[in-house]
Amino acid sequence: MTAPLRAKDPTAVTVALGERSYDIVIGNEQLSSLGRRIAALRPGAKAAIVTDKTVGQYCLAATETALAAAGISATSVTVAAGESSKSFAVLETVCEALIAARIERGDLVIALGGGVIGDLAGFAAALVRRGLDYVQVPTTLLAQVDSSVGGKTAIDSPQGKNLIGAFHQPILVVADSALLDTLPAREFRAGYAEVAKYGLIADADFFAWLEANWQQVFAGGGAREHAIAVSCRMKAAIVARDERETGERALLNLGHTFGHALEAAAGFSDRLRHGEAISLGMVLAFAFSARLKLLAPDQAARVERHLAAVGLPTHLRSIPGGAPQAERLIELIAQDKKVRRGKLTFILARGIGDCFVAPHIEADEVRAFLLEKLSEQ
Ligand SMILES: NC(=O)c1ccc[n+]([C@@H]2O[C@H](COP(=O)([O-])OP(=O)(O)OC[C@H]3O[C@@H](n4cnc5c(N)ncnc54)[C@H](O)[C@@H]3O)[C@@H](O)[C@H]2O)c1
Ligand SMILES: [Zn+2]
Repeated sequence: MTAPLRAKDPTAVTVALGERSYDIVIGNEQLSSLGRRIAALRPGAKAAIVTDKTVGQYCLAATETALAAAGISATSVTVAAGESSKSFAVLETVCEALIAARIERGDLVIALGGGVIGDLAGFAAALVRRGLDYVQVPTTLLAQVDSSVGGKTAIDSPQGKNLIGAFHQPILVVADSALLDTLPAREFRAGYAEVAKYGLIADADFFAWLEANWQQVFAGGGAREHAIAVSCRMKAAIVARDERETGERALLNLGHTFGHALEAAAGFSDRLRHGEAISLGMVLAFAFSARLKLLAPDQAARVERHLAAVGLPTHLRSIPGGAPQAERLIELIAQDKKVRRGKLTFILARGIGDCFVAPHIEADEVRAFLLEKLSEQ
């Protein structure tokens, strides 16, 4: 682990994918460098900024100024904030706006927003003119540490989230930690679940650092940038080794099999943000690992303690509207895309910082565990 960064010192993390390699630039007030960085990568390119209404209010003018300062002409498309924009209808609007703005091969799409905008604009960029370059400017903690990196783009279908999409890597990610200052506390906290996830998957020292320093991460400054940089470094390394998720990249789904089922049971509503569901999912994944005698129960308790300390949900009973039934959860887990030939795939733990992909878990074992958990509540 590196020492915490000094404010204003940007860090560059490279996602090493041969010809498609790109940098993630992380730092305070890095948005102002966006135009200069783009001009260096694609001299003479025009840009279309895709954003949502909320982010647009806070960040669009500064983004336009940064581009104009480097002589880049830019148009913008603004969609409604929220998951509902990951739809065919909104995708169509964005694609048509890009064509109307005469964005051609050699020009750029800029995704300015959280994971919704990154997924939507990235997918539009993959489609229009059979593939345009795009730049991610993530504005939520979740997007800065997770969704803006790795090239997964998608919209939702009535059958489920992210079912229609493409792998399309950005050419640059600029993660300006100062943009997170306007993020509602609940959104920041939900994104923090994904930060803790990296420690739990493969970096026990980072998890211990988070236990000691999470308040500074929430407060901003160098500790926040450090947490973002460590998270991005891990995601970049995993993506470089397994871009298409044929193996190791699945580790990033820690807590997500349980978590997605909980999100689906809550109807993907405001009752449970994605990161909140992942917090519950990670607590369940560690408790399940303890039940399978893969790890000591005190390790599972430590995970729960930290997530509870930051204010994330750790008990099924804390889901507003009540915990779902075990059978409903099993049904939802079985529908999840990580099911192969009747066996369930889970990310389990041998310890904090030592997770692995377990592809042959019996549904009965999961059912018994969930029944036990729900009866404890
Ligand atoms: N592609 C991937 O690898 C990947 C990984 C994880 C999640 N995702 C996707 O990401 C999405 C969730 O992303 P999210 O949590 O960032 O949600 P989001 O994009 O909806 O942002 C959350 C809310 O915060 C607002 N917001 C964003 N930035 C702000 C700022 N700086 N100040 C104030 N308000 C701001 C947005 O307008 C929105 O209302 C989901 O659709 C999920 O499927 C994708
Ligand atoms: Zn997630």
